[in-house]
Amino acid sequence: MNRMSATKERDYVLGTHDAEVQRLGFQHGVWQSHVRQAWLAAGIGPGTRVVDVGAGPGFATLDLAELVGPLGRVVAVERSGRFVDVLKAACQSRGFSHVDAHELDLMQEAIPATDLDAAWCRWVACFVSDPLLLLKRVHACLRPGGTLVLHEYVDYSTYSCLPDRPAIEAFVQETMSSWRASGGEPDIARQLPTALHQNGFRVMSTRPIGMAVTRNEPAWNWPAGFVRTHVDRLLELGRVDAAWVAAVLADLEAAEADPNSVFITPLVLQIIAEKV
Ligand SMILES: C[S@@+](CC[C@H](N)C(=O)[O-])C[C@H]1O[C@@H](n2cnc3c(N)ncnc32)[C@H](O)[C@@H]1O
Repeated sequence: MNRMSATKERDYVLGTHDAEVQRLGFQHGVWQSHVRQAWLAAGIGPGTRVVDVGAGPGFATLDLAELVGPLGRVVAVERSGRFVDVLKAACQSRGFSHVDAHELDLMQEAIPATDLDAAWCRWVACFVSDPLLLLKRVHACLRPGGTLVLHEYVDYSTYSCLPDRPAIEAFVQETMSSWRASGGEPDIARQLPTALHQNGFRVMSTRPIGMAVTRNEPAWNWPAGFVRTHVDRLLELGRVDAAWVAAVLADLEAAEADPNSVFITPLVLQIIAEKV
């Protein structure tokens, strides 16, 4: 799987290492019911030709491939060669020949498809240097009337622990800062309805999605797991020191020892838009 060396890999701020692949897989499971509901609302079903924009290792791509079936088509575009390799291997083991996975940087290249019926884009607009260019790329590959489903954060700072855990709060702020320092914008969904309107889309519906999870629910491991793995990434990026990491992990340990703890997830805005 590690075709490219760590230094040559086209990286992004959260990393592309094995633990991140696992985290994205778990995250996809936590979000799956919301995602399927959104796809249904956007008319994605058997026979649809759909693009997964910034597909990561392709957990949604595989679900889309099952949903659209062999009469449909799934185009997956992703900048990380490592993630594309993971996806290609998964398609091969499932015998999916109706998935095309492309390693490309959406800030440099167009999506290699036209006249698609739908596009799915989750947690990508928040990482790219030019979200308007991203919308233009998606617009160009859709047919008129084609739908775009976006899941992007609208208020990342809702990510918090009850009762308050100051080091976890500092972690959330530092994560947002590191993201902005790498050219992204965590709360990008605040800009999307207007940007969609100005770039040839009609917004059909919007819906905020947030969750609150208690210590005993499996979904706890989505917000908690991100804290656990991402502190190392912030250390690796040289943004924090070992003492800071230890304080965050101590707060997380205290939260996990308290059966009354609740994690509030960062607020996502679902947007379904149509190419005019
Ligand atoms: C948080 S992950 C989300 C992955 C997937 N959409 C999902 O929901 O599981 C963000 C993804 O966007 C990709 N990405 C960021 N900038 C990109 C760009 N300029 N071109 C293509 N992919 C990009 C990253 O490599 C990463 O896989």
